[in-house]
Amino acid sequence: MSDVLTHDLVILGAGLAGLRAAVEASRVTKGNIDIAVITKGQMMRAHSVAAEGGTAAALRLDDGDSYELHAWDTVKGSDFLADQDVVDLFVHAMPNEILQLDHWGIPWTRREDGRIAQRPFGGHSYPRAVLAADKTGFFELQTLYDTLLKYNNATHYNEFYVTSILVENNEFRGLTVFSMTTGEFKVIRGKALIIASGGAGTLFGFTTYSRTVTGDGLGMAYRAGLPLEDMEFVQYHPTGLVPSGILITEACRGEGGYLRNADGDRFMEKYAPAKKELSPRDLISRSEITEIEAGRGFKGPDGLDYVHLDLTHLGADKINERLPLIREVCIEFNDLDPIEEPIPVRPVAHYSMGGIETDINGATRIKGIWAAGEAACVSLHGANRLGSNSTAECLVWGGITGGESAKYCQEKEKAPDVPEDKVEAERKRLYDDLLMKEGTEDMYQLRRELRSCMDKYVGVYRTGEELEKALGLIKDIKARYPKIHLKDKSHTYNTNLINALELCNLIDLAEVLVTGAIARTESRGAHARRDFPTRDDDKWQKHTLAFYEESGPRLDYKPVTVTTWKPVERKY
Ligand code: FUM
Repeated sequence: MSDVLTHDLVILGAGLAGLRAAVEASRVTKGNIDIAVITKGQMMRAHSVAAEGGTAAALRLDDGDSYELHAWDTVKGSDFLADQDVVDLFVHAMPNEILQLDHWGIPWTRREDGRIAQRPFGGHSYPRAVLAADKTGFFELQTLYDTLLKYNNATHYNEFYVTSILVENNEFRGLTVFSMTTGEFKVIRGKALIIASGGAGTLFGFTTYSRTVTGDGLGMAYRAGLPLEDMEFVQYHPTGLVPSGILITEACRGEGGYLRNADGDRFMEKYAPAKKELSPRDLISRSEITEIEAGRGFKGPDGLDYVHLDLTHLGADKINERLPLIREVCIEFNDLDPIEEPIPVRPVAHYSMGGIETDINGATRIKGIWAAGEAACVSLHGANRLGSNSTAECLVWGGITGGESAKYCQEKEKAPDVPEDKVEAERKRLYDDLLMKEGTEDMYQLRRELRSCMDKYVGVYRTGEELEKALGLIKDIKARYPKIHLKDKSHTYNTNLINALELCNLIDLAEVLVTGAIARTESRGAHARRDFPTRDDDKWQKHTLAFYEESGPRLDYKPVTVTTWKPVERKY
């Protein structure tokens, strides 16, 4: 019998969605709920701290903004793949989240008159990104963490790696985990689970993501029987710093920055005469690649050709006050001061629009399991997310899933039993099989191959031929994975073991993503097929669902919820 730790609510992930959920579950139960927050990192180190530019909310109903406008911008930005009932719920819930954080003590940037400041972001018709300089995610996470500590009812499992989700009779039973510091294997049992473990950004080599973002929650949920939705839609942010890929926030353009090609032209005037640099991300990323392919980019290292993001006309005061992190990053990483010189940027893998399929309240198909934040696909972003809508999504659905799961826990007398046979099988898989591997394949080589295949063939523009090539390579990597070699056999901080588990998740997710992308023979939002260059609403205004099967994903589809807006041509 393994060591079993029992709680009411188990939260996988300590980012914005996870902590917002923990706070809400604590709030609605007045602290009378026993919560486990599990992270393979440490509190305050989740990737949410890297969110920079802002969080969208329609606050200025007295000055030209409205819920309808925020909803319309989101639906149009999604290329009509967002579920419109979800969007409606979101835009109405957001202002309260901003005010709630304000009451909990976040240092929002203020206007001269003392009101909460907002800045423009791409695809929004009103400056509605609420900000804390260019460190918005950091301050949001810090505020939620402080607030959670006040309830004193959450156990923080730092440096615990979750290896599987235990499900029996379609009901959540617990998680198998091991402590990274000691290697001890344990079961964390609970009445309910919220998966808030973020996206899968390191499927790509050139990414804004921290190396910890390896799609663990997604991979485990998929293998536990939950379908992944719309995974073919990957957001390429238009301004990744070359060559590191570090995020250069869209707020740079919100504050007035220009994109220029090698001729010095503001090329977005040509592609989007009205919105220019404040167009949605899918459109700007395609425009940058078009400029580069036409020979109007700059030569970068390792094929990372780029364009310029020019802030020099903004002046030192504005850059220092509104974009201090960006200045620091450019100086530290590129030895370049954006007050004086333009920044080299190109599209970079930034966000997964897809995720674990949920209903409008974040509930999955398995009883007792919810998902929130980037790990989930509640269908808010459709085929292309608007900047500043993701930290917002984490807050809204962190709150909803925290509240819903807390109610469920209160109604349930005790945590159900864990299936011992599955626990034992998982223990064996880890310690008797994976850890003992003496194969001939170098897993770091497999990981490099996977990322370079995704960078090369699953980029801003795609073709059926390239995607098929990618799928062939992924299947080859998948076939070689069981033959990997684990050099480190120890139980203490065994990064070989952790990396092997992460790679397994990445391989499964790459296969899902590319299989969905091959099937979708149209261009919509961030999925731009050169061989099918137009949107096909008759055939493809529907969500992709990928179900786990040993031989590879089985695809199915479900309709988009349209309540208000029928698809029209997107012009910016
Ligand atoms: O550019 C940014 O600051 C990113 C924001 C977002 O992805 O929402």
